[in-house]
Amino acid sequence: MTAGREYKLEERQTPADVDPQQFRDIGYQLVEDIAMLLESIRKRPLTPGETVSDVRNALRAEESLPRNGTDAGQLLSEVTELLLDHSLLNGHPRYFGYISGSPAPLGILADMLASAVNPNVGAWILSPMASEMESQALRWIAELVGFPQGGGVLVSGGNVANMLGFWAARTTMARWDLRTSGMRSELGRTMRAYGSKGMHTWIEKAADLSGLGSDSVRWVDTDSEGRLNISVLQEQVESDLAAGDLPFLVIGTGGSVSTGAVDPLPALRELCDDFGMWFHVDGAYGAFAAAANEASADLKGLALADSLALDPHKWLYTPLEAGCTLVRDPKALMATFSYHPEYYHFDEEANNYFEHGLQNSRGFRALKVWLVLKHIGREGYVRMMGEDIELARRFYEIAEDHPELEAFTHSLSISTYRFVPRDLAGRTGQQQVSGYLDQLNREIQDRMEKGGQAFVSNAVLNDTYVLRMCIVNFRTTLEDVVALADITTDLGRQVDEEMRPKELIR
Ligand SMILES: Cc1ncc(COP(=O)(O)O)c(C=O)c1O
Repeated sequence: MTAGREYKLEERQTPADVDPQQFRDIGYQLVEDIAMLLESIRKRPLTPGETVSDVRNALRAEESLPRNGTDAGQLLSEVTELLLDHSLLNGHPRYFGYISGSPAPLGILADMLASAVNPNVGAWILSPMASEMESQALRWIAELVGFPQGGGVLVSGGNVANMLGFWAARTTMARWDLRTSGMRSELGRTMRAYGSKGMHTWIEKAADLSGLGSDSVRWVDTDSEGRLNISVLQEQVESDLAAGDLPFLVIGTGGSVSTGAVDPLPALRELCDDFGMWFHVDGAYGAFAAAANEASADLKGLALADSLALDPHKWLYTPLEAGCTLVRDPKALMATFSYHPEYYHFDEEANNYFEHGLQNSRGFRALKVWLVLKHIGREGYVRMMGEDIELARRFYEIAEDHPELEAFTHSLSISTYRFVPRDLAGRTGQQQVSGYLDQLNREIQDRMEKGGQAFVSNAVLNDTYVLRMCIVNFRTTLEDVVALADITTDLGRQVDEEMRPKELIR
């Protein structure tokens, strides 16, 4: 016997195991608690709005690791309470912040089932059904948005999905064997990537971590609607070529993070063909909206890309984490990521997903994607996304007509706006007034984020601080967007009363 062990190894009893009957009981209770959450989500505060120390105290964050374990049932009920009482609920119908999808209930159950089977979807032999489900989910995603059936892989989210496209472009377009010699190119040329000023920050990490450096990225001016300006791009590429650089990649954004702007994707494809560059589309937010017949030709142009990033955890409404990279050339990802160590005995005929991306061992995130796609179907998605877009448009119209709100932009399911006190409405061009309005709207956002009634994020448009509402949420109704206008104006009046500098009081 070893110290602390009161059984023989022939009849091993471990603290990890849970008695099957107890597992059933606590599992049913957990499902019951989750069902209650979903049932009551509309009536719950969206967030408790607590401070960091409130949350740490609730967790008893200073406690050290317990020497001995705790009863599973007691623990699960304590942790459920902790999470339900101290979390922001992005599935709440009035969550309009950033771009986090409301998690579809089947996706929630999928994560439990995926963990129970626990396939390692790095290698086919370790995950036969799971690997095939991932392949099928990838084919369905391509079919849904009209992208050619090439290659692909599921990843953690939009950042990594874009980076895979970036790295595939870098390896394919380098004029030397970049995988073995690295960035020490004998050509001594700076590889350059191009995209609009509205590009998401992933590009900075990608350029930095791949050895190009973030200065190598060209952030191209946009038009008044936030779309990349093609002629400025062309001039920039020509001047970089003249300077001896190696332009290798253009990134088109299909739904920008701030305003949902969609770049002219077909025109970007043509430019890439003219200059021999890789065309990547960041459709992390907007790509799924291309499934609708009435989607713009610009958005549908994502089908022309060499690589495309999408985020099932945004507009497919799966729980976090689920991102996706699709590539036109089925071999492009393998040509970038595959190695064959001697200690792997895997059938090379099958899809071994560790060869298609960064991860080696991989979880079964495909299950939630596969399940929600099959549960909801194409028509269901087109209808839900269409409604999200319509609700964001309705909010834009409400803001346009409201005497204390100023509407800025609407594209896809994002609208931007701000609160402007009635008496300042005619003076927004004055420097002091515009500075005050920035401050006022920042404070409105701050209080709304903590208040628990609704949640918006922000954008900065031409140096103006605006509030930004985004709907990737199948629970949001017209009543919720009407309420958002009221919540904003109530807070706006209150904050204005407290903060207005004397010089601006007439
Ligand atoms: C256009 C765009 N690209 C990339 C990302 C990054 O996605 P993730 O947060 O899933 O990594 C986002 C996130 O909002 C986005 O809107």
